[in-house]
Amino acid sequence: MTTWTKSSWRSKPRIQMPDYPDQAALNAVEARLSRYPVLVFAGEARRLRKELAAAGRGEAFLLQGGDCAESFEQFSSDMIRDTFKVMLQMAIVLTHGAKVPVIKVGRMAGQFAKPRSTPMETVDGVELPSYRGDIINDLAFTPESRIANPDNMLRAYTQAAATLNLLRAFSTGGYADVHKVHGWTLGFTDSEKAAKYRDIATRISDTLDFMAAAGVTPDTAHTLQSVDFYTSHESLLLEYEEALCRQEAETGKWLAGSGHMIWIGDRTRQPDGAHVEFASGVQNPIGLKCGPTMEADDLKKLMRKLNPDNEEGRLTLIARFGAGSVGDHLPRLIKTVKEEGANVVWTCDPMHGNTIKSSSGYKTRPFDSVLREVREFFAVHSNEGTVPGGVHFEMTGQDVTECTGGVRAVSDEDLSARYHTACDPRLNASQSLELAFLVAEELSARRTSSVAKAAG
Ligand code: PEP
Ligand code: CO
Repeated sequence: MTTWTKSSWRSKPRIQMPDYPDQAALNAVEARLSRYPVLVFAGEARRLRKELAAAGRGEAFLLQGGDCAESFEQFSSDMIRDTFKVMLQMAIVLTHGAKVPVIKVGRMAGQFAKPRSTPMETVDGVELPSYRGDIINDLAFTPESRIANPDNMLRAYTQAAATLNLLRAFSTGGYADVHKVHGWTLGFTDSEKAAKYRDIATRISDTLDFMAAAGVTPDTAHTLQSVDFYTSHESLLLEYEEALCRQEAETGKWLAGSGHMIWIGDRTRQPDGAHVEFASGVQNPIGLKCGPTMEADDLKKLMRKLNPDNEEGRLTLIARFGAGSVGDHLPRLIKTVKEEGANVVWTCDPMHGNTIKSSSGYKTRPFDSVLREVREFFAVHSNEGTVPGGVHFEMTGQDVTECTGGVRAVSDEDLSARYHTACDPRLNASQSLELAFLVAEELSARRTSSVAKAAG
């Protein structure tokens, strides 16, 4: 066995990574990035790991969400604010249902690189390399655009830094103050959901008034005025990850400085491959996508490699099987985890197993399938007596038409109206909230049944 270094992934088989035609330019960018400041700090990653440990025990709940792919073109402060706002709303709804803290993790400030199902794309008989995310090449269908350009990494870094700067300001600068819970209304197009949210918001305001009257200490008040918001992305472009990987002087441990949590995609999770190698050596919480092709043997190898000390909060298994298939796969993988006695956080990604091509030609996801997969995920955990620790969504605060269905019933024909995603279809603000209400109901039912069991 070779010892881990931030470069040891280079001697392992790699897939889904670009070939850079200009090696000298690539090396220059890597050298430059490796001198830049990291975006996140080790203490923050450790705090997130502690919070995730609680989610694994059912004492907290993970809400992870954001873009499929962040884009240079659509970068704006309004976009960041709106996604942040919807995540706060969802978190309020979930906290109300679960009665436990909700850990907020954005697919933001680094979610640029995309794995693709085919290396080449053909349009009208013309074949070009596939688009791999703005950190690698450009979406435009021209030969020049599709060349992997290392300079895109510098631009992605700068955009990630600016995004994180704004998120940090929103989190602590008063915007996320829970006293403003009534002001976070956005995307309420359904009056029933709006009324439900207002009801929760009013109850929270009443509680806060009561607490103020009862003289809550400044310490408690401070926690209510700020929020912890973390960042995450798929650790796919390993040259970028390596350049931002740093050793902490005090502990000697390594940190992926590109985001608080990184995950390994369903296509790049080979136990002996480059992506697993890189993630195995950094102290950040790691996510691992588990699709229908995940076998017990591989999962065992992966858990041993990614979490050799079986630390709580280190490894999050992100189940993404597709509606109708959860029952075929989740129970067998839960069994594997039990056999190993492994500590994991189970979360549900109801997006990536439910992508279809609509009759109008757009890649979409029927909202009903998304809801159904979430329900199946909760039902399996209820049967197995295990903990549903969180959810993982592709969503935006914008009023897009990318997933069909929802209370406003986006139809196949509507998709073309506001289809803006650079990659996979996202839930819009209203669909995100509708989903949060469903998850809150599931969590609240789970709480009621465990209280009943304890009493009975
Ligand atoms: C993603 O999360 O955008 C993604 C590509 O997921 P998966 O690896 O599960 O297909
Ligand atoms: Co996606």
